[in-house]
Amino acid sequence: MKIQIINGPNLNLLGVREPGVYGGVGFDAYLVRLEAAYPDIEIHYFQSNIEGEIIDRIHATGFSFDGIVLNAGAYTHTSVAIHDAVKSIQSPVIEVHISNVYSREPFRHQSLLAAACRGVIAGFGMDSYRLAIEALRLAVNC
Ligand code: DQA
Repeated sequence: MKIQIINGPNLNLLGVREPGVYGGVGFDAYLVRLEAAYPDIEIHYFQSNIEGEIIDRIHATGFSFDGIVLNAGAYTHTSVAIHDAVKSIQSPVIEVHISNVYSREPFRHQSLLAAACRGVIAGFGMDSYRLAIEALRLAVNC
């Protein structure tokens, strides 16, 4: 099984950025744990602060990978273009958020991506990514 994790803007600063909201672990360190927990899954990781690069990666993996775990960061709340990219591909996409966006500012309550995704996982800290992989495993096996 082959999965692409995509992190959007400012998520390169995980571990440093607002640790009270996003925790103190950087994504690279978390990825090592994730890979150890799923030795049977090929996990590819991509991060970009640029909307078009995120779209390019969705296109590049969305016809050959078994699924995409997408934390589009703030683009979640603004990007019709990422919504359209998710709609354009075949692989299932799970929208992920580290924080519980619904307990935060009202502008985070709307996702332009959720309707295009297979499902949404939010609010479980970094564990949201692991739960998304579990969801993709179920999606692929049924
Ligand atoms: C986030 C939530 C978004 O509202 C925010 O803009 C982020 C991170 C999360 O993982 O909780 O950058 O996607």
